[in-house]
Amino acid sequence: MGSPVVLGIESSCDETGAGLVRDGRLLGEAVASSMEAHARFGGVVPEIAARAHVHALRPVVRRALDGAGLRLSDVGAVAVTTGPGLSGALQVGLAGAKGIAYGLGVPLYGVHHLAGHVAADTLEHGPLPDPCVVLIVSGGHTSLVLVRDLARDPLVHLGDTLDDAAGECFDKVARAFGLPYPGGPAVDRAARGGDPRAVAFPRPLPGSYDFSFSGLKTAAARWAESHAGRELPVADGAASLQEAVADVLTRKAVAACTEYGVGTLVVVGGVAANSRVRALAGERCRAAGVRLRVPPPRLCTDNGAMIAAVGDLLVRAGAAPAPPDMSIDPSAPLEYAVLHPGLAVAA
Ligand code: KG4
Ligand code: ZN
Repeated sequence: MGSPVVLGIESSCDETGAGLVRDGRLLGEAVASSMEAHARFGGVVPEIAARAHVHALRPVVRRALDGAGLRLSDVGAVAVTTGPGLSGALQVGLAGAKGIAYGLGVPLYGVHHLAGHVAADTLEHGPLPDPCVVLIVSGGHTSLVLVRDLARDPLVHLGDTLDDAAGECFDKVARAFGLPYPGGPAVDRAARGGDPRAVAFPRPLPGSYDFSFSGLKTAAARWAESHAGRELPVADGAASLQEAVADVLTRKAVAACTEYGVGTLVVVGGVAANSRVRALAGERCRAAGVRLRVPPPRLCTDNGAMIAAVGDLLVRAGAAPAPPDMSIDPSAPLEYAVLHPGLAVAA
């Protein structure tokens, strides 16, 4: 008997995602986004996001199943993001996942959202080498971690952001530049026609492998303000901002690989979709003799497939399923991929 089809459900922010994975292979996926409903507020409104998940969950699961040519009864395990994220949004995903898992009588696993981002790459490039260095860059988190066995071992933090996340920096500066929400993709697009050397934005390099983006954010916002009354050269500002972010992220990530003697760097999370981050990571990894793995952009931003990928790893590692009273943890620290006592069986 092969391993079961794992249904993954993601609802931590403004994307409702469902994915189906078996034995490391992506069978089907679907994502619905409430992004447009938040755009006029300039950021995600938690209540609107939670309500949108209620409406999107069933159709998204249905679309993922249809795409895979499967029926709900083919699902053999369910994995769901239980943190970190917006409380109301997480609650909707967990309620839906419990309903499906208990209705089918199959095991349920609670998964850390950022471990999902890490696992996303396995769907494109196969199992992660042990060890690898992973740069996780999303809207709310920026961490450089050493990963061994994602299903069994704790993730070792080499560095974290001391203040803003890289994605937050893009989102907030985009606003100051008059670009639409979400800021990251808008900066990426605007930067295409710009000169990355036009503005000398700071390159914050705090100690060891930590990051800091609030100084850069403030410098970029000031630069925009200094043009009051004059036309803002947005393309140059966007290209220069993107260059500064890509520079500090890739400099530290590659240095960590070299110092720890690790041969593979994996870059994941929404900001890993950034064209300059991808290109500069490629250049620097080549120069340092490090193998680079970055998921395709659609698997970098939030999705359900990445949560199914973690569930599939947990199932195959023999992890214990979640207790029936499992709850969400909106500020879950990144320690293990599984967010409930789940390793007992594997030990
Ligand atoms: O991982 P993600 O989808 O959600 C979180 O877990 O936060 O990441 C969203 C973040 C946002 O800050 C968004 O602006 C950023 O990823 N992002 C980008 C790009 N696409 C998404 N940042 C820079 N360039 C992009 N192309
Ligand atoms: Zn995310």
